[in-house]
Amino acid sequence: MGFTSFPSAQPPADSANCFQGIQELVDASCLQHVPLNYIRPLHKRPFHSQVCHSRPIPIIDLSGLLDGRRRQVIEEIGLACEDWGFFQVINHGVCRTVRERMWKAAYEFFELPAKEKMKFYAGDHGDAVGYVTSFQRSIESVFEWRDSLYLRRDPSTSGDGLKKAPAFCREAAIELLGQMRALADQLCGAIFESQGVESDAFEREMPKLCKESMLLNYYPACPDPSLTLGVGGHSDPGMLTVLMQDEVGGLQVLKDDEWVEVKPVPDALVINVGDQIQILTNGRYTSVEHRAVTNAGKARMSIPCFFSPAVDARIAPLARFVNEKNPALYRETRFGDYSKNFFSRPLDSKSNLDFVASA
Ligand code: OGA
Ligand code: NI
Repeated sequence: MGFTSFPSAQPPADSANCFQGIQELVDASCLQHVPLNYIRPLHKRPFHSQVCHSRPIPIIDLSGLLDGRRRQVIEEIGLACEDWGFFQVINHGVCRTVRERMWKAAYEFFELPAKEKMKFYAGDHGDAVGYVTSFQRSIESVFEWRDSLYLRRDPSTSGDGLKKAPAFCREAAIELLGQMRALADQLCGAIFESQGVESDAFEREMPKLCKESMLLNYYPACPDPSLTLGVGGHSDPGMLTVLMQDEVGGLQVLKDDEWVEVKPVPDALVINVGDQIQILTNGRYTSVEHRAVTNAGKARMSIPCFFSPAVDARIAPLARFVNEKNPALYRETRFGDYSKNFFSRPLDSKSNLDFVASA
């Protein structure tokens, strides 16, 4: 029975034997229709005609952080976090050659024969390096239109996962993640400085970034982008995300109940506030729901890098953001528990924050 002509509505059991990346499905069958188990219920489809293409999310030039314009840049970052929770940065210090090397490695990976990619097959996200399809296939009733390779480094648990990365992308990934991490540290400092947390206090009060993961997302061209999504609406569970996307576009953020396109800007990186910043600032800054749509004509790639606290870090609103008028909105939680909860359920807007809501 052809999977594409008469697909099953049930997700296949998640074993390596029946793994089928969406890329292979598209390539092998010259797909004319979206298979049934990728078709979202009506109310969860993307409705492209209602997407806003004209509201540009802020673009911030970080070169000013190092010269006399630091105050002004910090203010811009604060405003962007308040208004959008999303912004793009230029002059960010992540070298073009390092980014290009990573793109090349990512293309190389997704061009490998299925058999070679399967050497990194990981079922649902678990190990330090893994090839996956959709988000958590074993618990989803509708799949996402993407295949990914993730690379994870968590000194607090599994050590340096990048050592296990495929040889052709290991060096590129180590270099990119190193530069992205330096940027993430700088931006976390700037974000809290915009709330009046000066560097000494930041060092004292803030949990350090520890866990780092990189996703190479591949979204094949889709016969009907109105029926499915590359990634469903969600907020990122960690502290801060730094994403590079190619020129195809497809990332959208939910702003004032409207989906707004994050247009690719050459050389820019997309930054978004994760759930941990929302918790630490007791809601002053909020993580923002975002998603990625598919494209009928072209495959798309994105490479987000996620930065998070150590799994054992205990995260709660910082005392400075809690007072009589602003009681703590979130209970203290071990980051590892928050993260585990996120990965144990399908992506669903910002609902993972309910896990830590104060009673
Ligand atoms: C993610 C994500 C968006 C994109 O992987 O968390 O939001 O544009 N990706 O690929
Ligand atoms: Ni995301």
